[in-house]
Amino acid sequence: APEVPDILSPEFAADPYAAYAAYRQDAPLLWHEPTQSYIVSRYEDVARVFKDPVFTTANYDWQLEPVHGRTILQLSGREHAVRRALVAPAFRGSELESRFLPVIERNSAELIDAFRRDGRVDLVSQYSTHFPIRVIVDMLGLDRADHARFQKWYTSIIAFLGNLGQDPEVAAAGERTRVELAEYMIPIIRERRANLGDDLLSTLCSAEIDGTAMSDEDIKSFVSLLLAAGGETTDKAISAVFANLLTHPEQLDAVRKDRDLIPRAFAETLRFTPPVHMIMRQPAEDVEIAGGTIEAGRTVTALIGAANRDPDRYAHPDTFDVFRDDLTAANAFSAAADHLAFALGRHFCVGALLAKTEVEVGVNQLLDAMPDVRLAEGHVPSEKGLFTRGPAELLLEFTPSA
Ligand code: HEM
Repeated sequence: APEVPDILSPEFAADPYAAYAAYRQDAPLLWHEPTQSYIVSRYEDVARVFKDPVFTTANYDWQLEPVHGRTILQLSGREHAVRRALVAPAFRGSELESRFLPVIERNSAELIDAFRRDGRVDLVSQYSTHFPIRVIVDMLGLDRADHARFQKWYTSIIAFLGNLGQDPEVAAAGERTRVELAEYMIPIIRERRANLGDDLLSTLCSAEIDGTAMSDEDIKSFVSLLLAAGGETTDKAISAVFANLLTHPEQLDAVRKDRDLIPRAFAETLRFTPPVHMIMRQPAEDVEIAGGTIEAGRTVTALIGAANRDPDRYAHPDTFDVFRDDLTAANAFSAAADHLAFALGRHFCVGALLAKTEVEVGVNQLLDAMPDVRLAEGHVPSEKGLFTRGPAELLLEFTPSA
């Protein structure tokens, strides 16, 4: 087998991007013993894994089910299409803006108000880790007084997903979270059915297509998925946009002056430093890919982080460039995705537009509150994480404002 850094090695954790180049070049189809999966890394192959229905999500039965219960990620075919159609309308552009923009603006502003007089902040622990979760809690019409509990559940779900069944304590904590969240949510869902309001939970309670509706259990699992899929990812995305801009000051300057560039900066961040670096699938039959064969029932790990820097797809792929002309913000948040950060095909991220709205609001408000924002003296941003990855911390300084 070719010599490439193992995805579980410290070398890989320190700089996955260098390793990705070696994978694309020397080992486009690589068997990985510890995770019992084949790894693919070229843009073309990763895109195919998402688009070709031979690659099923059966792996989510063990990756997600113990912590979330049954979600749309585990479903396929018509069942998936119907279940997805029940939830999707609430996340479309016009509906999103009219119902949820005030909630997004308020949550961002509250977090910023807590540090704007300090002149310094860790954007990760004081802002981005809290912002998307609080938005989801408000969108659903749940109790803001329970933020700390949601934050704890969220943290333990994320730990479960990154654990891949390795540490039994982390696995057990994840399963306990499923039970706790059900105990919390099921009575609220029952009550909401009796008293529908104009929140997202009410929408989920009353959604119906051809006689199919969501059960209490379905809604509970979807809420659990929203915490993970909508929290962890957007959290990493916002701090990554800032880290990328702050380490490219001339681009930060351009964005500060022309806020219409924010969607471009976000799209390029999704390509350059995607929040989700790898996604697994399980082929239903033997498939030929990347010059070899993956046997039916084996797992394949698709490296989004590697595909997004494939020189066959992007010019100067290792350069962060808000102005690049081979990535358009117009496509970056739709299923026409120019990059693979939201996946492709049937499971393409339902929340892409919500994420875009959150990042636009967040970056705008942060730039307004900290016009002279800079990296704290001596701070060099670094990333952490394997399946999901983002800035470990982001220490900023700025002139305090009232
Ligand atoms: C699916 C990434 C934000 C909800 C996905 C998938 C990816 C992804 C890669 C595909 C998973 C797979 O195919 O196995 C991201 C990124 C985000 C983001 C990078 C932020 C920058 C959100 C938000 C929400 C959300 C804000 C909602 C609150 C979902 C849901 C699915 C999904 C429900 C499952 C769709 C399906 O199975 O049909 N996301 N996501 N995501 N995402 Fe996101």
